[in-house]
Amino acid sequence: MKTVLFVGAGRHQRRAIQRAKELGLRVAAVDRNPDAPGLGEADVRRVVDYADVEAVLKALDGLEVDGVLTVSADSAVPAVAAIAERLGLPGIGVETAHLMTHKVAMRRRLADAGVPQPRFAALRRLSERHRALDEVGVPAVLKPADSGGQRGIFRIESVDDIELHLHEALAVSPTNEAILEQFVDGTEMNGIVVARGGEQLPLTLSDRLRPPGVGFGVGWIHLYPATVYGHQLEESEHVATYAVRTLGLRNGIAFPQLIASPDGTVSVVECAARIPGGQMADLVRHAVGVDLVEVQIRFALGEEVPDELVVPRFRQPLAIRFLTAEPGPLPTGRVVGVGSLEKVLAFPGVVQADTYLQVGEVIRPVRLDGDRRGYVIATAPTNLEALERAEAAARLVDVEVE
Ligand SMILES: Nc1ncnc2c1ncn2[C@@H]1O[C@H](COP(=O)(O)OP(=O)(O)O)[C@@H](O)[C@H]1O
Ligand SMILES: [Mg+2]
Repeated sequence: MKTVLFVGAGRHQRRAIQRAKELGLRVAAVDRNPDAPGLGEADVRRVVDYADVEAVLKALDGLEVDGVLTVSADSAVPAVAAIAERLGLPGIGVETAHLMTHKVAMRRRLADAGVPQPRFAALRRLSERHRALDEVGVPAVLKPADSGGQRGIFRIESVDDIELHLHEALAVSPTNEAILEQFVDGTEMNGIVVARGGEQLPLTLSDRLRPPGVGFGVGWIHLYPATVYGHQLEESEHVATYAVRTLGLRNGIAFPQLIASPDGTVSVVECAARIPGGQMADLVRHAVGVDLVEVQIRFALGEEVPDELVVPRFRQPLAIRFLTAEPGPLPTGRVVGVGSLEKVLAFPGVVQADTYLQVGEVIRPVRLDGDRRGYVIATAPTNLEALERAEAAARLVDVEVE
């Protein structure tokens, strides 16, 4: 029996850990939080901060591991690569892991290869704000160089805005670095590309719709297939695969994020080296019939990934509607009761739905990924009909607040 090590054992990892066990594997998992939901599912568990690779290796104490992986956690990607190298296991390499998690390093590499992207400038201290803004212009986006989940991201209209927010952006960067980028207008898209033996197989391209206001970075609706068409669709697929190749991913799952602008151009927002969170793995499963977790486990074990596991089996239009406060379907306030999802799940076209709401928590206006408190996935003959179904079903979610 082979053993896989999961680095990080949060909510997203839990499902993947269950899947690994279904596939007949023994699972070891590490997380610094002793209550991480995935730890309870693992056969071997260690409470340790994965940011400290030496501590993880020590905690494993000679345990025989055949593969190492993570799901959804960007911060775990460099740790997984480092552990794989130390244990002589298959991995993406520490250099590629760095290029695919550190936004400044990524932008520099993409620029060298001529990949279309916004103007950018790196900054570490306030005194650099004028230089950075001169290089980038307004409107701009300020973000930590290496964080995720929309933490520390701000829209910037003036040098005063940088003064106001740089501290927070730097505070969430483990390397204390931020990046200022030209704000790109347009339709945002998520791509899923599987790299296998140095070749890129594009699986899905879907629209990622965002709410107006401070939550401008939060994906609150996914639509498959994406709504771009013609030349811009071809360009999007080309840019997605070219970015993955440029960053050096030879075997693994890549998550390129793009913006298609009204002038017909396509720009790269970022390109991660992992299975995305936010139900994107569910999107891929329902849309094209590919199980990304199984694919990732095979890469981690160095096993062959046959066409049957990665080539789209069908193309099913769908929509994912996240449950958020206004203008989403949830009320704001302290949760006093969450009803059953029976009616939601019975709605025509609905294939999956869940809430992560707990009685006593406060539902706030949308600002971060974490303000998404559940989702509804619906299929239909077209993506727009699927969205209508998902919206209608989401209105049946029964949440009481005070
Ligand atoms: N340069 C940009 N122009 C327009 N929107 C952006 C830009 N950079 C980021 N965003 C928005 O913010 C979101 C989060 O930014 P991203 O760089 O992907 O950081 P994270 O690592 O938190 O996912 C993006 O998905 C996009 O919606
Ligand atoms: Mg992102």
